[in-house]
Amino acid sequence: MTPRPSTRNKAESPVEIVVFDTVGEAERYAATEIRSFITARREPVLGLATGRTMLKVYDWLRQWHEAGELSFAACRSFNLDEYRGLSADDPSSFASYMRRSLFDHVDMSEANYHLPDPDAPESSLAAYDLAIEKSGGLGLQLLGIGRNGHIGFNEPGADRHSLTHVVALDPSTRAANAGDFPPGVDVPTHAATMGIATILGAERILLLATGAAKSEALARAMSGPVEADCPASYLQLHDHVTVVCDREAAALLQERS
Ligand code: GLP
Repeated sequence: MTPRPSTRNKAESPVEIVVFDTVGEAERYAATEIRSFITARREPVLGLATGRTMLKVYDWLRQWHEAGELSFAACRSFNLDEYRGLSADDPSSFASYMRRSLFDHVDMSEANYHLPDPDAPESSLAAYDLAIEKSGGLGLQLLGIGRNGHIGFNEPGADRHSLTHVVALDPSTRAANAGDFPPGVDVPTHAATMGIATILGAERILLLATGAAKSEALARAMSGPVEADCPASYLQLHDHVTVVCDREAAALLQERS
């Protein structure tokens, strides 16, 4: 049975915030939203995210596929970002993360999933936006949030009008992601990421944030001003955003009802 979350109203911002008691319920709800999107569309185009937050979401999608309840055959996907300087088969790359967590386990052909080419010259990264556009545009963009308010790898200071581009990673982001690399291996200093305009171009955005470590970033993003210093706050400019979180991540959000 799906637990009943508390939903804050949309009085002052178009962002819908759905709060669950537990992380597990929030993860399952996010997965259910993705599943509904896939089954409702003839040619679903997904924007996908990596990070620890998404692991359980992809587990659910795999399980439903394995149970014969969900097919990815008609899906195309575009990941948010990739580290610069890592080959696609480096275990710490987001390409490997996606294959391990989802792509290798579902009926999605390799031709249909995409990650930005992290080593492409800056000038040719706009090709990623063109590929998204040619596919019909992002129907549903899944997002996590960094502790410093980043989305994708759009770090504080991000330009609202940016398309896919190269970014220098914030030292705090590199520290937060160090656990994804073997001991003694440095986190890359740069990455390629969809830009803010790329993300805001999605028809619908689903942001999943769980745990107390995300509460401050989430509050700044949703209850604070729209500002480059907190890139996730740009989501307030989109008219179809759903934030799914657990009570701990929601703890600092202001009641808006
Ligand atoms: C990563 C990704 C983001 C992700 C964020 C949070 O490095 N570039 O897309 O949302 O950082 O990651 P986590 O879920 O591990 O906290």
